[in-house]
Amino acid sequence: AVPGLLDRHGRTATDLRVSLTDRCNLRCTYCMPPEGLDWTPASQLLSDEEVIRLITIAVTHLGITEVRFTGGEPLLRRGLESIVAATSALRTAHGSAPETSLTTNALGLTRRAAGLAQAGLTRVNASLDTLQPERFARITHRDRLPDVLAGLRAAADAGLGPIKVNAVLLRGINDDEAPDLLTWALREGYQLRFIEQMPLDPHGAWDRSQMIDADQILTSLAARFDLTPEPSSVRGSSPAELWHVRPLGAVQDEDDDEPRGTVGVIASVTRPFCADCDRTRLTADGQVRECLFGSREHDLRSLLRCGATDAQLADVWRAAMWGKVAGHGSDDPAAVGFDQQAPQPTRPMSAIG
Ligand code: GTP
Ligand code: 5AD
Ligand code: SF4
Repeated sequence: AVPGLLDRHGRTATDLRVSLTDRCNLRCTYCMPPEGLDWTPASQLLSDEEVIRLITIAVTHLGITEVRFTGGEPLLRRGLESIVAATSALRTAHGSAPETSLTTNALGLTRRAAGLAQAGLTRVNASLDTLQPERFARITHRDRLPDVLAGLRAAADAGLGPIKVNAVLLRGINDDEAPDLLTWALREGYQLRFIEQMPLDPHGAWDRSQMIDADQILTSLAARFDLTPEPSSVRGSSPAELWHVRPLGAVQDEDDDEPRGTVGVIASVTRPFCADCDRTRLTADGQVRECLFGSREHDLRSLLRCGATDAQLADVWRAAMWGKVAGHGSDDPAAVGFDQQAPQPTRPMSAIG
């Protein structure tokens, strides 16, 4: 058996998130300032071959069964298709191909969805916070809503589903739009998940009192939908809690035109799922992070460039994960969760993935 990525709190990481770039072609206000950030210099980025080598070690030596590609915006990485193809060609200890997925803003997917499916990509999660063009431009600083909608459709048509759509609600900007987003997602056949905004922006502007939390999201949906919780077992390793939804007034089984399905809420702040976390992360510049939050990074890039063997790299990765904190910003299980003064990771999420 493969000795996996265990930690001292009894968790095993089987899900690897790989950031392929810290750049993005949108500027979502909760993620990046309009002028962008100081991008990682090319010399510090892992090459395609280096990324593939580390993913191979994770899958064949460390028990990783799911690989998610993130960014910044992973579609900005030219080698994405070849990295996906190389990952899909690997075999886990169970003899199956790892599941591969992409978290993207969907810009450019119209041109690339079919090629990504052909490369072996299993599924796509996409970010979309509003269906109103002016709001989209206000949130992302780019006027590209139609391109995003077309990208989502292309991904679904290429078989990259079930497509999950991630939405962050921002007070005074799109917080009245939850039912409209859900109606649209049910019609399109996408699984919508609302995400509580986390303190991950680079300027530290996050303010707990401004956050739209899970209870507020559910209250807003309940004005137009009947919500029934899914048994928690269905949540699996996904951070989303799921509800079955039916438009209010729809007559069960008779009203076949009325779309129904599920909606997810990712309550990272008010209901942290750290105790069930099964993730390890690799940044675009080759650092292993045990946790999205927390300050520790482990420099696999330098080791790799100094000629470390696969076994040595695997050992460093195992040791890194053994030291994983119990929960965000805190090593005290009793204190898991965000304080009023929220812990900030040492880099913005766009540079972590
Ligand atoms: P699925 O397996 O498809 O459910 O993936 P996912 O939801 O984990 O991935 P995605 O990239 O779509 O992330 C959605 C949201 O999950 C992010 O915006 C975060 O809010 C949250 N998230 C992802 N990873 C972590 C993590 O390690 N810790 C915490 N607290 N939240 C995370
Ligand atoms: N809080 C919550 N979600 C965030 N995302 C980016 N920044 C934040 C934040 N501060 C979301 C994006 C994307 C997902 C990977 O993370 O909307 O869907
Ligand atoms: Fe780009 Fe995603 Fe950040 Fe938006 S949230 S700016 S799409 S990396």
